Amino acid sequence: MAKVYVFDHPLIQHKLTYIRETQTGTKEFRELVDEVATLMAFEITRDMPLEEIDIETPVSKMKSKVLSGKKLGIVPILRAGIGMVDGVLKLIPAAKVGHIGLYRDPKTLKPVEYYVKLPSDVEERDFIVVDPMLATGGSAIEAIHSLKNRGGKNIKFMCLIAAPEGVEALKEAHPDVDIYIAALDEKLNEKGYIVPGLGDAGDRLFGTK
Ligand code: URA
Repeated sequence: MAKVYVFDHPLIQHKLTYIRETQTGTKEFRELVDEVATLMAFEITRDMPLEEIDIETPVSKMKSKVLSGKKLGIVPILRAGIGMVDGVLKLIPAAKVGHIGLYRDPKTLKPVEYYVKLPSDVEERDFIVVDPMLATGGSAIEAIHSLKNRGGKNIKFMCLIAAPEGVEALKEAHPDVDIYIAALDEKLNEKGYIVPGLGDAGDRLFGTK
């Protein structure tokens, strides 16, 4: 069964408070999302495999640890997921970035894929799918299906704020995908917004409100 990790690090919680605030303008919002994504990437990479190599310090020879070179991919769900990419890349600069675009069909209300571009070596990479908000879970579930259909395995999902409904739906659809969040909020409202949430993450990131 999927595990759910809520990052309660004080720096993440502090920055998330200002991300939520209505008064926070686009520039500051974008910077804070970027910083929180970096802090979350630090936590999410805790299980990265290491190997020992021989090195020489000015004093003696020793065996020391380096990353064993597991390839990573970051996949933002368009468009708000883009706001988290650079923050993750600061810690994992060699990661390749794929993109998955989904829109909601006005009749069925189901997410429909309109754009997918992934690294060519999908099968060799571990993936972190990013989207600031896990609301109903529809987009995350569909994006992860897309990634799996193209050979993606070992997938983690990372978001800033989740609704319990979204967490449950994602766990049920993808029990092999662990979920990493900065805050688990109360509920969804009738318009599908997370309460208390932060409003529309895409609009706040790109100043389109
Ligand atoms: N997407 C958002 O940007 N905000 C929400 O509250 C829910 C989905």
